[in-house]
This record gives sequence, C-alpha cells and structure tokens, in this order.
Amino acid sequence: MSATLIDGKAIAATIRGEIRDAVETLQREQGRVPGLATVLVGQRKDSETYVRMKKRACEEVGIVSFGHELPADVSQEALLGVVEELNANPSVHGILVQLPLPDHIDDEAVLAAISLEKDVDGFHPLNIGRLSMKRREPLFVPCTPKGCIELLDRSGIEIGGRNAVVLGRSNIVGLPVAMLLLHRNATLTVCHSRTADLPAMVRQADILVAAVGRPEMVRGDWIKPGAAVIDVGVNAVDDADDPRGYRLVGDVAFAEARQVAGHITPVPGGVGPMTIAMLLKNTLDACARGAGNGDS
Ligand code: GUN
Repeated sequence: MSATLIDGKAIAATIRGEIRDAVETLQREQGRVPGLATVLVGQRKDSETYVRMKKRACEEVGIVSFGHELPADVSQEALLGVVEELNANPSVHGILVQLPLPDHIDDEAVLAAISLEKDVDGFHPLNIGRLSMKRREPLFVPCTPKGCIELLDRSGIEIGGRNAVVLGRSNIVGLPVAMLLLHRNATLTVCHSRTADLPAMVRQADILVAAVGRPEMVRGDWIKPGAAVIDVGVNAVDDADDPRGYRLVGDVAFAEARQVAGHITPVPGGVGPMTIAMLLKNTLDACARGAGNGDS
C-alpha cells in the first residue's frame, strides 16, 4: 500500500492565505503593516535563492520586506551595526540573518544581538534556551522545526505518547525539532553519525524526522509500517535526464519509503514551503505583539 502524501505546498498555501487575511485585518484595524528585514552576507547561491524566496513570499501576503546585502568580507562590527539599526527601526518587526555566515563572523554573537522581540528565526540564545526547558515559552520557535510540527498537526497525526526519531542534531533543525516533539509528549530518540545500528533505531519510529543532508540515506526497509515520515533534506544529485543536470532528493529514499510509510512528505514540496510559511507567521506575530513600537 502507498503512503498518504503530506502536501506541504498545499498546506503552506492555506497558511499563507490565513496570514494574508490576518495582515489585512491588522492593517485595517490597527494601521500596522508587518515588516521583515533580511540580511544576506556574501554570495552563496543557495542562501541567495532562499532569501529571494522569503522576500517574494512576504510581498504576496502584504508583509513589507527590507533587504540588506553585505559583502562576504564585511567586518563583524559592521554586521552588528546593521543589526542594531534594524533593532531600532520601528517599521521592522522581524530580523532574519541568513545562515551560514562566513567563517570570520561569530554567528552566535550576531544572533544574540538581534532584539528578542524581532527574533523571527527563533535562533536567539534566550529563545533557544527557553525552547530547551520545561514550562518556558520562547517568543519564537525556529521556522523549519515549527513547520514539521504543523505538517503533523494539519495531517491529523498524533504525537503524544508515540515514538519519534529525529535523524540529525543541527542547531537549525535537529535539536529544536527534538525539543518540540518532546514538549508534545513524544518518546524521543535523537540519532546522529555515531549512532550504532541506525536502521534498527529508525525502525522504532512512529514519527521520523530526517534532517541529515545525506541523499536518500534512509531506505524503505528502515521504515516502520504506517509511520509518518517528515523529510527535511534537500540534496541536489546529478541527473543527466533533467534539463538542469540535477534533481532534488530528500534524506529518505522516497519511492521505497512510500510503499511502507503511512504518511510521507515529498522533496521538493514537503517541508520546504512550510519553513517560509512559518517565517511569515512569526513576522505577523511579532508585529501583532508590537515589536518595534516600544509597546511589546
Ligand atoms: N539557513 C538555513 N535555514 C535557515 C533558516 O531557517 N534561517 C536562517 N536565518 N538561515 C538558514
């Protein structure tokens, strides 16, 4: 039997529609227009593409975007200066510094400089710290992990009491999504490059979140029958049949896994669109709470 597809593109479109309506209401009733500032350092092609997509998505829902592009050799001081300016700008409700930053920049210091109320990426150490503790509420939750949970919720997949396995322990996805699953009362296992017998661990998963960046690493026979599979990986692999010369695949061997899983996200069109939808939601929330107006 073939798994039910979790259509992230369609779910994200629904959420973008909800956000567009909320942005209109906020403007009509309170005269506020949410603003997102993006900061891009250097010329990484993937980062340029992500930032372009984020700015376009803002425009589509009525959020104003402010783009800042800085050279790869920008000094830490100059970058911190830009963040400080954005912190003080009342038209900016959310600040996103695209990662990764060049090696000479201390990314922790940059993320810590972002105003807590404008930290729509949820990467400020205080927001991450609150996410990692019981009964503490971060002001914002990182977008990709939040999008994974939203996909499960909107697909009617129960989280509480089920075995969740997270593959990968990155700061951007693996660790925060693990925290979110734990807060939702999943029984959690986090696997990584040193895990012994990875297939056996993955076979325990009622919910699998794969975020390792290894093309099609998870095979069909690793999947527990009926499991929900959330594939965060976006990996380009050579493909002579594709006009671009490559195609995108996830961390899960999709054709094999869909024969076994109960629900599965495709790549592309699964988690990717949700990351941007959650960024828009966080920016809307920041504006609604009054970030930038001195009344938050
Ligand atoms: N690089 C990869 N994912 C992200 C993200 O969600 N936010 C930022 N700022 N950088 C990223």
